[in-house]
Amino acid sequence: MIFASARLVARRFERRDLAAFVAMRSDPAVARYQSWDGYTVEEGVRFLDGLSGQEPGEPGWFQFALEEKATGAFVGDCGLNVSAHDRRLAEIGYSIARPFWNRGFATEAVRALTGHAFRAYGLHRISASVDPRNVASCRVLEKAGFVKEAHFRECLWFKGAWADDAIYALLHPGRGEWPVA
Ligand SMILES: CC(C)(COP(=O)(O)OP(=O)(O)OC[C@H]1O[C@@H](n2cnc3c(N)ncnc32)[C@H](O)[C@@H]1OP(=O)(O)O)[C@@H](O)C(=O)NCCC(=O)NCCS
Repeated sequence: MIFASARLVARRFERRDLAAFVAMRSDPAVARYQSWDGYTVEEGVRFLDGLSGQEPGEPGWFQFALEEKATGAFVGDCGLNVSAHDRRLAEIGYSIARPFWNRGFATEAVRALTGHAFRAYGLHRISASVDPRNVASCRVLEKAGFVKEAHFRECLWFKGAWADDAIYALLHPGRGEWPVA
């Protein structure tokens, strides 16, 4: 376990997550605003292999597997991309498998991840890049305390069309304000 919330445990990915992870990423509704389109078992294996050599809090993306405490089910993932240029800056991402949508899991995971990341990795600012059409994701960030800072119009060529990009961010609220885990 790396961090936890009321209903979720965030831990390293393991081989046993492969089928549920590939099923989540293969779901067109999950992929709609994400970089991939369709997802194979081979891609899943490469993803797990790539993660095994990485440590959370180090520069680059680290993905945490999210497990429901009550059932042990794979719920989704959340990721932290610490900047190699300045390790006090990071970006987050997250996906929840469709059967678990609209139960507050993404918001719970983002709150727990940001709290953990501020405390454990010495971050100052955490940002997120979202397609503004992804209303559920924008809502998650707002509920987790992020502030919308920018809306770039048609700045990305995404899946065959121009797309907008919204930037949200959360700043460390100040020394001592985060409870010690
Ligand atoms: C976006 C995503 C992570 C949300 O996960 P989730 O666990 O369902 O999120 P939560 O339950 O914490 O919150 C969802 C909020 O969006 C709202 N919502 C969901 N669908 C909506 C829609 N179509 N229109 C408006 N609001 C919507 C919910 O009502 C809820 O808000 P509320 O608590 O004020 O009622 C999930 O849909 C997902 O994994 N999508 C695919 C991957 C993705 O897009 N990731 C984010 C990339 S930036």
